[in-house]
Amino acid sequence: MLKKLLSYFIPITIYKKNSSVSKSLEITWNNGELVLDSKNTNYSYGSLQRILRKGLKFIGFERIQNFESILILGVAGGSVIKTLVDEVKFKGKITGVEIDETVIAIANQYFKLDAISNLQIVIDDAFEFVLKTNETYDLIIIDIFQDTTMPNFLFEDFYINRINALLNLNGFILFNTMVINLKQVERNLLYKSKFGGDYSLRMYPKVEVHNELFTIKKLH
Ligand SMILES: C[S@@+](CC[C@H](N)C(=O)[O-])C[C@H]1O[C@@H](n2cnc3c(N)ncnc32)[C@H](O)[C@@H]1O
Repeated sequence: MLKKLLSYFIPITIYKKNSSVSKSLEITWNNGELVLDSKNTNYSYGSLQRILRKGLKFIGFERIQNFESILILGVAGGSVIKTLVDEVKFKGKITGVEIDETVIAIANQYFKLDAISNLQIVIDDAFEFVLKTNETYDLIIIDIFQDTTMPNFLFEDFYINRINALLNLNGFILFNTMVINLKQVERNLLYKSKFGGDYSLRMYPKVEVHNELFTIKKLH
């Protein structure tokens, strides 16, 4: 309780572990809230949760309630899953894919992710998973970072086409990106240009300073 109160003045880290994927994983009290950070950025809860919550609002909570299945690529502490379960009241099936089993152990310990009954966690590389899965989804949330780096595969045609094939008609992709230099501005514009008339794409720049969100609806 004292740490929580003090954290309104200064962040207080209560757990830290080195990580090959994320450099480090840290649990910190920040402004009265428990958050998960990598070495150089916020991973779960705090600003990351606000960013994805905005994305879900753009799509519409009511619409999401009527979806049957949601795929989340990049789970970390699971803050978007908490938003879906606690705020959207989503009752359908949630599949979360995460490359780093250490972060899932931390999510279970500090954020009780394993208490969510409609959630299935798969420890796998998201790239491998989308090649293997036979299922299709109404919403695919892509939130993959290795500390501040986004792997290149996320922007490559092969992966984009595979994700599109897994998306049901009238389903949505919610893609969280980080934009801190001109090259990344151009990367995102190129990404946008890859979706033709079968999709309705919207870009939301400057969601919490450095993040740019995409919502993409499959029309045909
Ligand atoms: C920003 S965090 C995800 C936050 C989460 N969506 C939430 O709502 O709290 C990014 C996560 O992507 C994971 N990641 C990085 N590369 C990956 C890959 N190739 N496949 C699956 N997960 C990956 C990292 O281990 C990290 O846990």
